[in-house]
Amino acid sequence: MDLRRSTLKIQLNSKKPDQRATDQRRQASHLIRINCFFLSLFCLGPGFYSGCMPVRVGWQDFATVEALTMSTATIGQAYNYKVVRQFVVATIVWGVVGMAMGVWIASQLVWPEMNLDLPWTSFGRLRPLHTSLVIFGFAGSAQFAASYYAVQRTCQVRLFSDTLAAFTFWGWQSVIVVMLITLPLGYTTTKEYAEIEFTGAVWMTVVWVAYAVVFFTTVVRRKTQHIYVGNWFFGAFIVVIAMLHVVNHLSIPVDWFKSYPVYSGATDAMVQWWYGHNAVGFFLTTGFLGMMYYFVPKQVGRPVYSYRLSIVHFWALITLYIWAGPHHLHYTALPDWAQSLGMAMSLILLAPSWGGMINGMMTLSGAWHKLRTDPILRFLVLSLAFYGMSTFEGPMMAIKTVNALSHYTDWTIGHVHAGALGWVAMITFGSVYHMVPKVFGREQMYSTPLINLHFWLATIGTVLYIASMWVNGITQGLMWRAINDDGTLTYSFVESLQASHPGFVVRFAGGVFFLCGMLLMAYNVWRTVRVADVKMAEREAQIA
Ligand code: HEM
Ligand code: HEM
Repeated sequence: MDLRRSTLKIQLNSKKPDQRATDQRRQASHLIRINCFFLSLFCLGPGFYSGCMPVRVGWQDFATVEALTMSTATIGQAYNYKVVRQFVVATIVWGVVGMAMGVWIASQLVWPEMNLDLPWTSFGRLRPLHTSLVIFGFAGSAQFAASYYAVQRTCQVRLFSDTLAAFTFWGWQSVIVVMLITLPLGYTTTKEYAEIEFTGAVWMTVVWVAYAVVFFTTVVRRKTQHIYVGNWFFGAFIVVIAMLHVVNHLSIPVDWFKSYPVYSGATDAMVQWWYGHNAVGFFLTTGFLGMMYYFVPKQVGRPVYSYRLSIVHFWALITLYIWAGPHHLHYTALPDWAQSLGMAMSLILLAPSWGGMINGMMTLSGAWHKLRTDPILRFLVLSLAFYGMSTFEGPMMAIKTVNALSHYTDWTIGHVHAGALGWVAMITFGSVYHMVPKVFGREQMYSTPLINLHFWLATIGTVLYIASMWVNGITQGLMWRAINDDGTLTYSFVESLQASHPGFVVRFAGGVFFLCGMLLMAYNVWRTVRVADVKMAEREAQIA
């Protein structure tokens, strides 16, 4: 920490005061110009976005925020860590259940009898349950925990309204329980990642609005002059998810458990994949980038590599993501121009995605040696490597000719889990290991060797998963398009399934590795929490 402060001091003091002030003014005006540019692009976009936040940025402000965040001075009032603790525990519970569900459905693809011959446990019902539990239960709770933790610490205020914060916790958990009950029973809108039926979706909106009120009111009441960039990402995640959820769920209910969308045909498909792709972009990316911007610098003990890049990357990312949805509908009834536009926007999306990845990685400049001894940092850095990999793969798969091969195959599943396991889950693990000792009043986690073991299990599991799916995907794509001289298909579908069997076995093994790592984490957290020191937790929670 001293190192960080002295680095900042050196950077700020190496010039004469008046020259320094001019430089800082110039930097601030550059940043404002950059912001204005992207803001105008953003407003010209599909028109709905309302993620604009007050923008007052300068390197000096950032230094102040960081210095204050590092300070240990005690001033009366405390942060609300209770809700953070609750969401951390929920992250682990839903992580275990959701991933166990993933392993179960992976086993069904190896041994079909694992569906137990019951409708409730069939692949078609458990698959959406797996995606809902890992996305909304695991990844959702992780983002609630991280955003509540980071927004308080970077704004130097307690979270707005303990009651409303508690409501978001219990409300969100009840949404997941509704999914847990209704999806196996077969109640579903049939829209991927938006399967929850109308009544549940309305309840979800109420909880999300409460989340937005808690988060943004905390930002408004901040004691710091500047809004740290991590909070911009969390803010955009909250606003855009609200918009996507409401628009995609617009439907006419016929009773409590069934509704029909107001859209039909290709329009319905377009709205669904506008939602689907941005669910990836905002639920599985933007909030996690907020996490990255808080936890990577904290764990490394150095400021973000380039604050300016973080701003350019923020506006570019949220401006572009919203246009890329049609790449899910190549070669369909969607107008051809819309498909090509989706493809072009996806290719451009590579730039801001890598901007974020590079910014995170370069934050380690001069501190790479810490990777040798700090498994938490290893999780964070590896997650960035997988983020870089999946955001390179995604634009490639968005190219129409590549998609003609990859679509409907396991290649897509491999891409999904490179992002989901490699990026989303790994950055969550790193952030949770960082937060748990702090919010439960311990110096460190119960066992660092167990974190290390978790790291290797997760890495091996991810590699086995994605490598087997690449092999399967390309095999399936090539077998499906092979044609004999007389124009008939060379292979039947069943033959392609037989060829995929070894890959399914390897994917199952990868899932077991990953799940074992998750269970180790649950054990490690449990042992840490069991000896939680309330007094120390209270001291840690003092607003510094
Ligand atoms: C620049 C970034 C990215 C681009 C351009 C991109 C592009 C794509 C493309 C072209 C597909 C295949 C669509 C199809 O053939 O149906 C796809 C699928 C998918 N991607 Fe990405 N991807 C990106 C990053 C990510 C990341 C970081 C994640 C996860 C955290 C992710 C999660 C998914 C998911 C869940 C699907 C499957 C959707 C479905 O159910 O069909 N993507 N992506
Ligand atoms: C132990 C770890 C996991 C295992 C074994 C696993 C397994 C599976 C399986 C077997 C499928 C169905 C594939 C198919 O239809 O052919 C699937 C789909 C999916 N999983 Fe996982 N999963 C795991 C973790 C996760 C996590 C942590 C996330 C997100 C954070 C995630 C997100 C998804 C998504 C979005 C899909 C749908 C993909 C698509 O439609 O293209 N999974 N998973």
